Amino acid sequence: MVSQIRFLMCAPDHYDVDYVINPWMEGNIHKSSRDRAVEQWNKLYNVIKDHAIVDLVAPEKGWPDMVFSANAGLVLGENVVLSRFLHKERQGEEPYFQQWFAENGFNVYTLPKDLPFEGAGDALLDREGRWLWAGYGFRSELDSHPFLAKWLDIEVISLRLMDERFYHLDTCFCPLANGYLLYYPGAFDSYSNRVIEMRVAPEKRIAIMEADAVNFACNAVNVDSIVIMNKASDGLKSRLAEVGFQVIETPLTEFLKAGGAAKCLTLRVTEPVREELHANVSVESRVVRMEGHLLDAGLINRALDLIVEMGGSFQVLKFNLGEQRQSTSAAEVRVSAPSHDVMEEIISQLIDLGAVDLPQDERDSKLEPVLQAGVAPDDFYVSTIYPTEVRVNGQWLKVENQRMDGAIAISQTSNGIVAKCKLLRDLEIGEQVVVDVLGIRTIRKAESREQRNAQEFSFMSSGVSSERRVELVVEQVAWELRKIKDSGGKVVVTAGPVVIHTGGGEHLSRLIREGYVQGLLGGNAIAVHDMEQNILGTSLGVDMKRGVAVRGGHRHHLKVINTVRRFGSISKAVEAGAVRGGVMYECVKNNIPFSLAGSIRDDGPLPDTQMNLILAQQEYSQIIQGADMILMLSSMLHSIGVGNMTPAGVKMVCVDINPAVVTKLSDRGSIESVGVVTDVGLFLSLLLQQLDKLTSPYVANVG
Ligand code: ARG
Repeated sequence: MVSQIRFLMCAPDHYDVDYVINPWMEGNIHKSSRDRAVEQWNKLYNVIKDHAIVDLVAPEKGWPDMVFSANAGLVLGENVVLSRFLHKERQGEEPYFQQWFAENGFNVYTLPKDLPFEGAGDALLDREGRWLWAGYGFRSELDSHPFLAKWLDIEVISLRLMDERFYHLDTCFCPLANGYLLYYPGAFDSYSNRVIEMRVAPEKRIAIMEADAVNFACNAVNVDSIVIMNKASDGLKSRLAEVGFQVIETPLTEFLKAGGAAKCLTLRVTEPVREELHANVSVESRVVRMEGHLLDAGLINRALDLIVEMGGSFQVLKFNLGEQRQSTSAAEVRVSAPSHDVMEEIISQLIDLGAVDLPQDERDSKLEPVLQAGVAPDDFYVSTIYPTEVRVNGQWLKVENQRMDGAIAISQTSNGIVAKCKLLRDLEIGEQVVVDVLGIRTIRKAESREQRNAQEFSFMSSGVSSERRVELVVEQVAWELRKIKDSGGKVVVTAGPVVIHTGGGEHLSRLIREGYVQGLLGGNAIAVHDMEQNILGTSLGVDMKRGVAVRGGHRHHLKVINTVRRFGSISKAVEAGAVRGGVMYECVKNNIPFSLAGSIRDDGPLPDTQMNLILAQQEYSQIIQGADMILMLSSMLHSIGVGNMTPAGVKMVCVDINPAVVTKLSDRGSIESVGVVTDVGLFLSLLLQQLDKLTSPYVANVG
């Protein structure tokens, strides 16, 4: 039975693989046989003619891909949006398709120049006409989608393509009659997969395997219950049969060499309009401005990469290149995203890179009240380590207590309006919380290349180093410790028990005694093992001098805990003379504040160990207040805890034998963190040697 459905096709008179604009064409230049192509095309033409009406557009010499009439444009009712090909190799087809549409009574819309969109190759109507699925990522620009919505007055659902083999939506996605969907999930990013799953019920989704996908099984022509394609596995055929579709296979191998098959070779030109439905686009766009050493600091690449990685697209509207080494560059970038959620994610990351709104677009932050103590409004902006400002009543306010993973709370105080980073649990009813990503900016100092080089500490810019480089880091850290000490600054150490086990206890004690450390953070264990070593000469029962386990030594640490408990606190034990040296001893003797945060595995614990973790977090954050440097010595747990509380600008040195810990901690995207993979005892010993060198009398190096 021939239905009233019409398709447009273009005979392969001039078909060939002449160039490479998709991965299928690679290695296939002039490798297709014209005769076989003609024969395969005729077969397809006849199959379709058995079920529908076929119109023809005249092939044009010099435009070998014109056979792929799906790329002529996108038709809905009387209207057609003409394609704007991305590649110049196909742009010459546009006028011929335009002419055909005009001659056949269509109302033709053309997109602005430089806004690629490849027609029905990248835009497929739901077969019930409820909405339009539109692809982007390779050939069509996301910014073309709002035009489709406006001109065709239909809801557009944007899907991002990720696998270059499936560069057009119709190569991996095929809406079928009765709401079914044949598709290859691997071709899409996870956000798009979620969008698909939200629209199409599980029993309507026919997800295919890669083996079928690479045979272009999704590149199918559906007429009622017939599905015409190049090839399908038996499994796929029976799955389709179960839900009432009959597969007609017709080989199109010659066209596969150009990256196309059944669907690409046809364009459905009768697409009925559903009058009751109207446009609805979720694509959003926003222009941001970035300034600084965009090129030499790699900022612009990072920004553009993350836009794409997170599912958006961009257009660089302006770029003023700083010509002198000292001058900064400025760029205006238009960011588009398929939905508001994705836009929020992208913008919040761009904010961290210092992106701001254009002055004329500046708006106040969006605020929502705290309705339940300790709970933020859903869409709250998650704070980061970077110095942040929010705009309230037209004024930019500096956010106090900057730290990551908090909410920004705005409250009215006697000193006016105050913005503060707060942990969720500390939010109070009546406070307003910044939601969404409007009116938020971070302050990034644009240091010049010279300044950056002069900052000795940046030499390893968040690199992880080992072996010989350890010595270099040690030199840097020693220099820095000395400088901070001389200027009355603050260094905080986080330390794990490994410091003691590896023999670093005496070195850390010296650092404290000599005034290099202004705060100590750790857990129950470091304190216990440190005192065990000083009272009993063992660390977890191992004799620290001989390196062998002592008989009954496994009970040593409990005895120490018991002793300290008897005195009531570490400082009392020290004052009573029960502890006569070591890390804790030096802290007490030198009035260095320490905080020991408890955990589920703690023996004892020591009376000083704070088992209320909320209080422990508070103690920690008080001690790191105003720190210039934090030395993280082999304690993943406490170091990560500290990292989360520390704003950008504080130098962090993380020493651990496990590279994974070091990477995790030093990867803060800031130049101030340095990771060292090495034995912590060794590190401390080298550090003290180096500090000794820096304090010893100057000896001129005469060669
Ligand atoms: N060689 C053509 C191109 O890369 C193939 C087009 C396939 N068409 C399609 N609707 N998927 O543009």
